[in-house]
Amino acid sequence: MHDTSTTPPFPGRPAWIALNSHATEIKTRRLREFFDADKNRGTRLHLEAENLYFDYSKNRLTDETVRLLAQLARESRVEERRDAMFAGEHVNVSENRAVLHVALRLPHDATLNVDGVNVVAEVHQVLNRMADFARKIRSGEWRGHTNKPIRNVVNVGIGGSDLGPVMAYEALRHFSQRDLTFRFVSNVDATDIVEALHDLDAEETLFVISSKTFGTLETLTNATSARTWLVERLGDDSAVAKHFVAVSTNADKVAAFGIDVANMFEFWDWVGGRYSMESAIGLSTMIAIGPENFYELLAGSHAIDQHFLHAPIEENIPMLLGLIAIWNHDFLGFPTVGVMPYDQYLHRLPAYLQQLTMESNGKHVTQHGDHVTYETGPIYWGEPGTNGQHSFYQLIHQGTTIVPVDFIGFAKSLNPLGDHHDILMSNIFAQAQALAFGKSAEELRAEGAEERVIPHRVMEGNRPSNVLLAPELSPRVLGSLIALYEHSVFVQGAVWDIDSFDQWGVELGKQLSVKIIPELSSDVPLTHDSSTNALISYYRSHKQTGQS
Ligand code: F6P
Repeated sequence: MHDTSTTPPFPGRPAWIALNSHATEIKTRRLREFFDADKNRGTRLHLEAENLYFDYSKNRLTDETVRLLAQLARESRVEERRDAMFAGEHVNVSENRAVLHVALRLPHDATLNVDGVNVVAEVHQVLNRMADFARKIRSGEWRGHTNKPIRNVVNVGIGGSDLGPVMAYEALRHFSQRDLTFRFVSNVDATDIVEALHDLDAEETLFVISSKTFGTLETLTNATSARTWLVERLGDDSAVAKHFVAVSTNADKVAAFGIDVANMFEFWDWVGGRYSMESAIGLSTMIAIGPENFYELLAGSHAIDQHFLHAPIEENIPMLLGLIAIWNHDFLGFPTVGVMPYDQYLHRLPAYLQQLTMESNGKHVTQHGDHVTYETGPIYWGEPGTNGQHSFYQLIHQGTTIVPVDFIGFAKSLNPLGDHHDILMSNIFAQAQALAFGKSAEELRAEGAEERVIPHRVMEGNRPSNVLLAPELSPRVLGSLIALYEHSVFVQGAVWDIDSFDQWGVELGKQLSVKIIPELSSDVPLTHDSSTNALISYYRSHKQTGQS
C-alpha cells in the first residue's frame, strides 16, 4: 500500500494555506474582469482529450489558482495514489481491497496481476460469456421455458446494480435493439415491480438479478417476487432456469437463491458497486446495445483512463474537474454541484452521478480515521436541460446560494429534427454566459427598463460553470464521460485523504430496519425512542384499513 502517513493533513499543506489566502483575493474579483483582461481566456482555459472538449474558463479562477491547485494535488500525492489504484494496491483501506474498475476496460492483451492473478484474463473471460449470452438473447436463439424467444429483459438490482444499468440503457437507447423491452426494478416498494411487470408476458421475460453481494434485502425481495410471478404464470419451478440469470460476486448465495451458477456472470470484490456498470453488472446494457457497442463503451473509458494516467495535472481533464470541484467547495464555499446534461438520453445521468460522487466522497474521517477539519464531498444534483431552466434555474441565477454547474452537450443530435438541436444547444451556451456575466443595472437602463423593476432584473453573474462538449452521444463518448467523473471523484477523495471506496454510512439504517421489520406485523412492545415508537404505533393501527 502506498504510504501516505507522512502527508500532512489537508489544511496543513502549503498549497492549501496559499489557496486559502488566494481565495480571499479571488472572491473580490469578477468573471467579467477576467474575460476583459484576457481576450483569449475562453480558448486558453480549455482542454481536449479523447472526444471531450472541456471549457473551464467560466470558473472564478486565474492561472495562479490552477498552479496552486496542481501544487495541492502534488502535495496530496494524487498521482502516486492514482498509480497505486491502477497497480491494484489496496487503496480501499477500510475494506482492505484493491479498486480496479479501470481493469474492466483494459484490452484483452494487457496484463494486470493482482495478488498473483492476471485479472485482465478473468475480465475478458466474463466479457466473452456475456457477449455470447447477449447474442443469443438478441437473435432469439435463447428460448424460454415454453420455447418462445426472450423479448423482455428486467434488471433487478439497486444502487450501483441499478443506477449504472438504467442510466446506460437510457443514454444508449438510440443504439438498442428496438424489439426488446427493458425494465429496471430497484425499489422494494412493490409498486416498482408490479408496474414493471404488469404488461409483460412471462414466457418472453428474462430476469437479470444484479447484486454484488447477493445479500441486499431490496433486491432479494424483488427477485423472490419476480420468481413467484414467473412460476405462477408458467406453472413450473423449473422455468426459473431459462428465465433467471444472476450477476454477482457471490456464487454461494446465487445458488442458495435457486439460480444455477452456470447462469451466473461473475465480477470481483475489487469492483465497487458504484463503479460496476462496465462489469457483468452491465449485462442488460450489453443485451440492449450489443457486444460491439459495449466494447466501444469500454474503449471510451479506457482512453480517458490513459489520459488520466499520463497527462500532466494541468492538462488532465479529470484532475482539473476534481480540483475545480475542491476549489469551489472548500475555498469559495459553494456547497453543491449541478450537473445539467442537455440531452434527453442522459436524463438518468444526474441520479447515477449522485451515487458515484456522494457515496464515494460523503465521508467525515481521513483514511487514518481522524475527523476531517474541512469540507468533503459536495452535494451533486441535476436535471436535463432545458427542462431545469423552467424550474430551478431561477435560484441558480439570482438566489443567494451559488451553484457551480457542469453543462454537458453534443454537437450533433442523434435525432435531428428541424431546428430542435440548435435551440437546445443555444441554451447551454446562453445559460453559461448568463451565469458568468449576468446583466447590470446600467445595461438594463440602456434597454429602457423601468427603474422600479431594475433591482429585480439585475443578474449579478460571476457564477461558475464548466462546459463539456463532445461530437455526439455514442457508446464510446458515454464511456469517456463515466471515466471522467469516476476519476474526478478519485482526485477529490485523494486530496481530502478519505476512503472514496467504502460506504459504511449506509449500514446503520439497514441494521435498524431489519430490527423494525418484524415489529410491524406483530404487537410486541416497542423499545425505541418515543418518536419511533409513536410512528410504528401509527403504522400498525392504520396498516389494515389505510383510512384516516
Ligand atoms: O447500500 C449501498 C450499497 O451497498 C451500494 O454501495 C451498492 O451499489 C448497493 O448497495 C447494492 O449492493 P448489491 O449490488 O450488493 O446488491
